[in-house]
Amino acid sequence: MKGVAFAGKKGGTGKTALAHALALGAAWQGAPAYFMHTDDREPLHVNGRPYAYYDARDPKSLETLSNTALNNDGLFIIDSGGNRPKFDKWITKSMDLVIIPFMPDPEVVKTNLDHMKRLEEEGACTVRALINAYPSHRNEREYVAQFLADIPTEKIIGYVAKTEAIRTLRIDDNPSFKTPVTRVNNLSRRLYFTVMEALGVIEEEKGSKRQAA
Ligand SMILES: Nc1ncnc2c1ncn2[C@@H]1O[C@H](COP(=O)(O)OP(=O)(O)OP(=O)(O)O)[C@@H](O)[C@H]1O
Ligand SMILES: [Mg+2]
Repeated sequence: MKGVAFAGKKGGTGKTALAHALALGAAWQGAPAYFMHTDDREPLHVNGRPYAYYDARDPKSLETLSNTALNNDGLFIIDSGGNRPKFDKWITKSMDLVIIPFMPDPEVVKTNLDHMKRLEEEGACTVRALINAYPSHRNEREYVAQFLADIPTEKIIGYVAKTEAIRTLRIDDNPSFKTPVTRVNNLSRRLYFTVMEALGVIEEEKGSKRQAA
């Protein structure tokens, strides 16, 4: 079991949507996925999703769930909230990868880069950036490149296309979860592969550090 947390101080960058998409992508590839709801909002009413969804707002339940999950296969996915320094410390030390989603917006980039630097200064070495809501048109990509230029390229694990229908993953299943549209399914599968690749790179980095020591 690998632990992945979506974090970042700036609100509305896609932490929740991407955490669901990752869980869905894992499920479609036959890997068990455990979604941890940790923000202050009420949890969703989920019904028939192909991944497990837990109300983990109480830090004790989260810790118990993470300890239990470690013995299983698959992905343990934390949807973290915005401004939570103490919680951030816990996830950076307990998870294999912390993903900070960046939407192409100057304010988001500035706030989340500051956050990323702070986590790294505190000793986190597995924090990575994921560009979210990336435009599909070349002209728009050229336009947003100026906002994204400050993010160190080696920290970027991938890009997630702007896909309005992703919002369907963030709402209650009423009455039951329906198979998302193809664009959302494809995005979810790609995100799963992106994250698995990043986890592989991190594992290699850890290995070479151990050898060097
Ligand atoms: N790739 C995307 N394409 C289009 N819209 C997106 C994408 N990712 C997220 N969104 C939309 O952006 C909004 C914010 O997303 P979300 O709630 O997941 O962000 P968040 O970081 O969890 O916010 P908060 O900090 O409030 O918890 C939602 O309306 C969501 O549907
Ligand atoms: Mg959220």
